[in-house]
Amino acid sequence: PPATPQYRLGYHFAPAAHWMNDPNGMVYDRGVYHLFFQYYPDGMTWGPMHWGHATSPDMLTWKEQPIALYPDKLGLIFSGSAVLDVNNTAGFGKNAMVAIFTHHDMDEEKKGTKLHENQSLAYSLDGGKTWTKYAQNPVLKNPGIQDFRDPKVSWNDVAKKWIMTLATKDRITFYSSPNLKDWSKESEFGEKLGAHGGVWECPDLFPLTLNGKTYWVLLVNLNPGGPNGGSATQYFVGQFDGKKFTPLNDKTKWADYGPDEYAGVTWNNTGTRRLFLGWMSNWDYANQIPTSPWRSANTLPRELGLKQVGEEIYLTSQPVKELAKLAPAPRKLTGLTVKPALDLTEKLGLKDNKFMLRMKTLQLNDFTLVLSNAAGEELRLGYDKGANQYFVDRRKSGQTAFHEKFAGKHLTPRLATGPAADVTLYFDATSVELFADGGLSVATELFFPSQPYTNVKLLAPDGLTVNELTFSKLNSSMPT
Ligand code: FRU
Repeated sequence: PPATPQYRLGYHFAPAAHWMNDPNGMVYDRGVYHLFFQYYPDGMTWGPMHWGHATSPDMLTWKEQPIALYPDKLGLIFSGSAVLDVNNTAGFGKNAMVAIFTHHDMDEEKKGTKLHENQSLAYSLDGGKTWTKYAQNPVLKNPGIQDFRDPKVSWNDVAKKWIMTLATKDRITFYSSPNLKDWSKESEFGEKLGAHGGVWECPDLFPLTLNGKTYWVLLVNLNPGGPNGGSATQYFVGQFDGKKFTPLNDKTKWADYGPDEYAGVTWNNTGTRRLFLGWMSNWDYANQIPTSPWRSANTLPRELGLKQVGEEIYLTSQPVKELAKLAPAPRKLTGLTVKPALDLTEKLGLKDNKFMLRMKTLQLNDFTLVLSNAAGEELRLGYDKGANQYFVDRRKSGQTAFHEKFAGKHLTPRLATGPAADVTLYFDATSVELFADGGLSVATELFFPSQPYTNVKLLAPDGLTVNELTFSKLNSSMPT
């Protein structure tokens, strides 16, 4: 297919060329954020998986590095995580970076034994540059479970051991190890809880505090069965006693309601900051996305927190504060009245769809933000008071015909209560990420206009006062 430089993202990671899916092995080491990713370097659709690699000082400026892990006789290299083994528990060397990943054996899969997915190790003694696979792989053998993958390992201060959170078909299985090599099963979670419209994949377990109290968050990616179709990230808030995860309740919650965030997990080794990144696509149509010579990008890095609304404790996601560096001169307008419409085109002066827009209102009401171009294509985003939902409508946004499931109007419930609201939107060439109400309602959405949207208007038939509107163009942090 012809190259699509107009769809290159300015401040999101995408490989220079070829296919990418899940973020893997995210670990912070001495000033460097490492990102590994499911990568097929010989094509633009999913194929035999490698771990690609990129590094960044700030999660926004990424430099692609040589491929870290290649398929071998034990199989393809599926998703997993990486840790810094500061105490050399595995004996690979002090401060070894150790990757724990799934070996997926295609030949074994064809035999139908259900034994084709096993967990293996690789280590790097030079800060992630070169990698050696452990000679005694795999370290955790499949007991006969069709889907047995995506190990997320981190040091657990409660267990005083490494804890592995593993996706095992329709539930999560927790394993523990003193040395990353010998694993013991501790417990299972979720067979009858949460959303089960598809297979459970790419889990993560980490603590967060709220009002001085520690809670454990369990992320569970699900494909299909997401709230707007296809793949999505659900989560549970609860307690982890070093062996077992107990949720506070059985309510299904979503880290991102939009169709285009999947396989999201968090960085290891970032202290009290909990930093999340997802793959910005959806398995429903990922292989048909109209970009070339690369396919897929990641979401913005997001900082996670907890917030209580009524009796319920929710996860919040906010774009990382490092993004301020890309917004040199934000402009603030106050006291804008919209009834029934306000044209913002001149004020904002859009050229290339790389900008941030934040609206604060003391009295939320129905509104629609319409971005459009001279070709008559438009993206509509807003809030529907009657349904108490935010929405993104990309039915007329540009190219949609590459897959029947792409076009659509997608809904995100408003979880905050009370009339005051804030809505922050990050636009980048072909993506918008909506963070509403302090990150309680989040949605990620892709669009492919034939030319950038340059007109912006705000519609509010019943009237809306935007008490504060902050706007900034965003500089690129990625090579163009
Ligand atoms: C999730 C996933 C993982 C698997 C990987 C294969 O998107 O299906 O479960 O490890 O992708 O590329």
